[in-house]
Amino acid sequence: MKTIAYKVFGDTGVLQTIDEQKPSIQPNQVLVKVKAVSINPLDWKIRKGEMKLMSGSKFPKHTGTDFAGVIEDAGASVANFKKGDEVFGMVKNNMKDGALAEYVAVPSTSIWKKPAGISFVQGASIPTAGAAAVTAFQKMGRINPDSRILINGATGGFGMFLLQLLRDTGASVTAVTGTDALAFAKEWGAGSVVDYKKDNVLSQKVVYDIVIDLSAKMRFSNAKRIMKPGALFLNPVPGLSDIITSPVRNLFRSKKHVALLTAPSEENIPMLLNAISKGLTIEVSKTFTFNQAKEAYKYAEKGGYPGKIAIEVN
Ligand SMILES: NC(=O)c1ccc[n+]([C@@H]2O[C@H](COP(=O)([O-])OP(=O)(O)OC[C@H]3O[C@@H](n4cnc5c(N)ncnc54)[C@H](OP(=O)(O)O)[C@@H]3O)[C@@H](O)[C@H]2O)c1
Repeated sequence: MKTIAYKVFGDTGVLQTIDEQKPSIQPNQVLVKVKAVSINPLDWKIRKGEMKLMSGSKFPKHTGTDFAGVIEDAGASVANFKKGDEVFGMVKNNMKDGALAEYVAVPSTSIWKKPAGISFVQGASIPTAGAAAVTAFQKMGRINPDSRILINGATGGFGMFLLQLLRDTGASVTAVTGTDALAFAKEWGAGSVVDYKKDNVLSQKVVYDIVIDLSAKMRFSNAKRIMKPGALFLNPVPGLSDIITSPVRNLFRSKKHVALLTAPSEENIPMLLNAISKGLTIEVSKTFTFNQAKEAYKYAEKGGYPGKIAIEVN
């Protein structure tokens, strides 16, 4: 089968199409014929060697985490899925394995049934960004119509899900995004928008109960300027020292830094499936073919689009 892999860390130029044996399955696994894969920033952070501590430097490495497809075979101990089911999910070890292949073998605990009303590219867009949005929503704690929330970088995959989860809380949500995506931020529930290409949200006079930075460009030390006493700063790209020291340092400071680490699970994906059944929408801005994988990654890394970018495989 065809798969995309790389043998050195680097930019999209290191991605190669290689032929590998179709994977065989363990009793707890399913074999999925992949129909679509969505792109996450994590994919290129691993490929560029920015996560060597976790990924190690052993090659070849495969690419892509989130996929959707059709079950071709199910192991003897898999009870809840069968051949022909349309599913979405993630590869078990995204530091080494990759979803960008004609087939993937994954444990049945890493997949969910794809709702009939969404396409394969939309299904593939759910796992990493959707699970992160649910976890962020839960970490925000009790939210009410008096809560003021700022989402910096609000219209990528993560922000698209988070904005829509927050919509029903009645909270006052401000979305910071680029010019072309401002209309999407409003459609997904933002009460007000700031165009980061024209205005600096840190210079504004408004203060927030919660600030979440999805652009990976706002530092906690700067965000404090626009945080109320007791406010939370949610950081989905924390450094190792943030993860280790924040819980203790938060005991001694009013404005709290919360490191956000998450993965798709039985705790978060069902909440998203429920929201999708009630009308949450999934925007896939552009879809590429398998043979255009390099172009797809180049396009995704450049940014400037709302929602997700996906690759159709079969
Ligand atoms: N901790 C976890 O478990 C976890 C899980 C999922 C994701 N993440 C991380 O969370 C972050 C967001 O993920 P994502 O999938 O939503 O990424 P994404 O799709 O690339 O979205 C990033 C957003 O930030 C915006 N942006 C870029 N520069 C900005 C600036 N200077 N000011 C304000 N906004 C800016 C982008 O707008 P333009 O495109 O218009 O530039 C885009 O809307 C990534 O760093 C990702 O790695 C963490």
